Order: sequence, then structure tokens, then C-alpha cells
Amino acid sequence: MSISVTSGKVSSLGYIILLTQDIDAWREFGSDVLGLMLNSEISNAEQLFFRMDNHPSRLIVKHHDSNKLAAIGWECSGKESYEAVITAIETTGAKVKRGNESAAAERGVTEYAGSKDPDGNPFEVFHTRTGLRDNFQSPLDIDKFVTGKLGMGHAVIPAPKVTVTEAFYKNVLGFGASDNLTLPSPTAGMPDMNIRFFHANNPRHHSLALFNWPNPLGLVHLLLEVSSVDEVGTCLDRIHAGNYPLMATLGRHCNDNMLSFYVIGPGGFAIEYGCDGLKIDSDNYQTTVSTRADVWGHDYMSPVPA
Ligand SMILES: [Fe+2]
Repeated sequence: MSISVTSGKVSSLGYIILLTQDIDAWREFGSDVLGLMLNSEISNAEQLFFRMDNHPSRLIVKHHDSNKLAAIGWECSGKESYEAVITAIETTGAKVKRGNESAAAERGVTEYAGSKDPDGNPFEVFHTRTGLRDNFQSPLDIDKFVTGKLGMGHAVIPAPKVTVTEAFYKNVLGFGASDNLTLPSPTAGMPDMNIRFFHANNPRHHSLALFNWPNPLGLVHLLLEVSSVDEVGTCLDRIHAGNYPLMATLGRHCNDNMLSFYVIGPGGFAIEYGCDGLKIDSDNYQTTVSTRADVWGHDYMSPVPA
């Protein structure tokens, strides 16, 4: 596959769409455990739209016969950047399908288009969010999620063809490399774990990471960031009270400084819930190479890394 350099740059992680077999469990988990605000105007028995801020639909969960990532929505700074990114994707030979007006409206965006990366991970690009409202209110009184220019958090996705897929995100979507972490494999017969972290055009240390192992859900984890350690701790209390399984205990990451834990939500989707994420100068960032994931903690209950 030939890779083209583009003038377009993805600016942030805009939204995530998950497919789930258990929509009712997600309604409870999203609202009563994660503290997201259900957008009741457009949610129904088949699909949930959760808010984290003024955007109408940051986390979209749809009823389906399988549990799977449907799309990661990457924001472009405007129409010009959006069209440049689409042209760059098409130049690689990847198919791009432009979404219709009603599907764009439910995502809270003006226009979007879907495609797949070289590992087959589904993603969308969009520009210009719509339907913004300044009335975010967490049902658990969480004061805010850390979003805005930093985007809704970060996503880690499987990439067994990690070198080719890294080139795609860097050269076609305009991501910059933040860190390249290698850890010994905890599983016999599997390669060393290699996680490559990328920043979009904003100060969040990474909006995307690629993990070189396959993952049946298509999503290794999604990070949501809150503004204080107390919000992290009280969410951990809710996790314990609800008997949700942890994927990893409380800990602090080396590369992005995130103080977080990982919970396994309905359908097996892992959510990292944290605070203190590192902000960088994304235009002048020196990529790091690491062999250590954590300052402390993050005792993994299953062999899935940061
Ligand atoms: Fe993470």
C-alpha cells in the first residue's frame, strides 16, 4: 500500500460508537457507574447516546447481535481539513463511504465519512460538531469530564500489522508519535507486547494507541478522564459496589501520567477511568521509547496492557 502525506490533520477523538448485545446493561453502566449523561431526547430501547460535555453524543451504544467497536470518530478542524483527509485516505486505495444527513445528525456533526485502517479497524472522520448545548449535568454530579480541545479521551485498538497501520495514522490522518512501549509477553506463544501511542493535533499525550495483538471486540480500551483523584476513587467505589470486574487495579502510567483503573463493562469492553493526564506541546514533541508502563499499580487481571 502506498502512503500519501496529507495537509489534513485529525484534531481530536470526537466520538465512539459501540455495538452491544446488552443495551440495558449499558444504560445502567454508562449513567450510574461512569456518570455519563444519557441524552434522553434521542436515546431509545435500541440505541443510547451519552454526553460528557456540550456535545450531544460522545459515546453511542447500539443494540446488536455482537459486542464490537463500530467506529471511532476523528474530528477534523473544518471542511478543508476533512476533505484533505478523505482525499489522502482514498489515495491509499482504502474505500471511503460518506454518511447521510440523518446519520450525521445522530453523531452531532455536519458531515462524516467512514473507512477502515490497514488492520481493518473501522473509523470515521468528521468536521463541525452540531447541536452543542451548555447544559451538561452528570447524573452522579461529576463536575466535568476532561474533553474540549483534548477530545473525549483516548482509544486503544488492535493492530497486528502495527508498522503498516502506524504509517497510515501518521501519514494519512496526520497523527504524531508520542511513545513506543514494548513489554514482555505474559502469554506463552504470543509476541512481546508493543503499544504505539499517537497524539492528534491537541495537547493530550495520546488520543490513539495501537496494540500489536488481535482483539475480538476491536477495542482494547477507551479512556475517559475526570478532573480529580476523588472522582476516580468514587467511581472505583461504584465499580466495587456493582461487582464489575476490574481489568487492572488503580495505578499511574509512566508515559501519560494518567492515574487510573480499568473496568470491564457490559459486553467485555474495557474502560480506563482516570485523571491527571499529561498535556504536551504536540507541535514540538520528542517521541519516546519505553520499556516500562507504570510508575506504580495497574496490576493487570487479564493480559491486556495500557
Ligand atoms: Fe489508556
